[in-house]
Amino acid sequence: MTTEFISVTFTNSSNEINPVRDPAIEPDFLVRYARALDDYGFDYTLVPYASSSFDPFTIGATIAAHTKNIKIIVALRPNTLYPTVAAKALATLDQLSGGRVVVHFIAGGSDAEQASEGDFLGKEERYARLEEYIRILRRAWHSAEPFDFDGTYYQFKQFRNAVRPVAGTIPVSVGGSSDAAYRIGGAHADIFGLWGEPLAETREQIARIHTEAARAGRTDRPRIWVTFRPIVAETDELAWAKAHRTLDALNANRAKGLGKAPATAPRPANVGSQRLLAIAARGDVHDRALWYPTVTATNASGASTALVGSPQTVADAILDYVDLGAELISIRGYDNLNDAVDYGRYVLPLVREGLAQRHAVEARAYA
Ligand SMILES: Cc1cc2nc3c(=O)[nH]c(=O)nc-3n(C[C@H](O)[C@H](O)[C@H](O)COP(=O)(O)O)c2cc1C
Repeated sequence: MTTEFISVTFTNSSNEINPVRDPAIEPDFLVRYARALDDYGFDYTLVPYASSSFDPFTIGATIAAHTKNIKIIVALRPNTLYPTVAAKALATLDQLSGGRVVVHFIAGGSDAEQASEGDFLGKEERYARLEEYIRILRRAWHSAEPFDFDGTYYQFKQFRNAVRPVAGTIPVSVGGSSDAAYRIGGAHADIFGLWGEPLAETREQIARIHTEAARAGRTDRPRIWVTFRPIVAETDELAWAKAHRTLDALNANRAKGLGKAPATAPRPANVGSQRLLAIAARGDVHDRALWYPTVTATNASGASTALVGSPQTVADAILDYVDLGAELISIRGYDNLNDAVDYGRYVLPLVREGLAQRHAVEARAYA
C-alpha cells in the first residue's frame, strides 16, 4: 500500500482567513503555489469545480506546464461536458502533462447548484448518469475502434477517439457519502474520496465502499482518499491558539457575507456535509486531534474538518487514518500557500518517517 498526499489548487491569494469577493486569477500565485506543492513532495493537486468558478481544464494545463511531478486531479460534473468531449479533454491534458491526470467525479450534491447549470435530474439519476459516463470514458480511452452507445442518458453512433491517455487509461475518482455514492464509486472508481470524519465513522464508510466493490464483482477495491484541514504550529498549545484565531476569522468573515456559506444558508443537501454537521453537533474534538467547529462555521461547505496540533500530533493523526486503510491523504490549510509549505517542511517528513517505521516492522514480520 502506498501513501500519497493531495492538496487543492488555489488560483489566487484570496483565502478563507483573508477573503476577497470573486477574486480573479493571479497567474503568478497559481504557478508559485503549484510549484511549492511539486517541490515539497505533494503527489496530487485537486482542481475543484463550482458552478460559479474557473475552468479546471485550463487551470490544469497551466499547472502541467509549470510543474514536473505533481498529478492533476480534474474535478468534473457530468452535466457540464458531453462524455466523448470529456474523454478527449482529459486525454489531451494527460498527454500534455506526460500522464499526470486523474479525474474526480462529482455527481452533484445540490439540486439548486445543478439547476444553475441546466441540470434538472434528481440525485439518484445523477449517480445513474455518472455510471454511464464512467463506462463511456473508459471505453473511449481503451478502444481504437469506433463504437456506438445506447444508454438512458447518452446515445451516440460511431464515436472514434484518437486521443489516448499516456498509460492507456486515466484513474477515476468518485466523492460523496450517500448510498448512491458508495454504490457507484464502490463499483467503478479507482479512488474513492471522503471528507475527514472520526476514525469510527471513517472505518464504517470504508467498509461500505468495500462491500459495494465486492457486490459489483470486483476483485480489487477503490483506493481511499481522506481530506483534512490541518492547523499546525510549533507546539500543540500554539496550534490550539491558532485554531481559535482561525475560527474567529471564519465566523467574522461569514458575518460580513464573505464566508463560504451565507450566515442564513439552509441545511446542505449533500449527505457528506450533513454527516459532518451531525458529528459537529456531538462534540468539538474527536479522536487525537480532529476538530469540528470549522465545520459548523462554514455550514460544512466542502472539506472542513481540521486536525489541530504540532507537526508530530498532526502526523500521528494522519497515520491513524493510514492504519485504517486510507492511501491518499489530502491536506490543505487556511493560509493556503504558507500552510502548504509548512506541511511540506514539517508534517510530510514525519508522516513518511512513520510510514517507513511501519514498513520496517512489516518487513521484519515477513523475514
Ligand atoms: C474529496 C472530495 C472532493 C470533492 N470535490 C468537489 C468539488 O470540487 N466540487 C463539488 O461541487 N463537489 C465536490 N465534492 C462534493 C461531492 O462530490 C458532492 O457533494 C457529491 O456529488 C454528492 O454528495 P453525497 O453523495 O455525499 O450526497 C467533493 C467531495 C469529496 C469527498
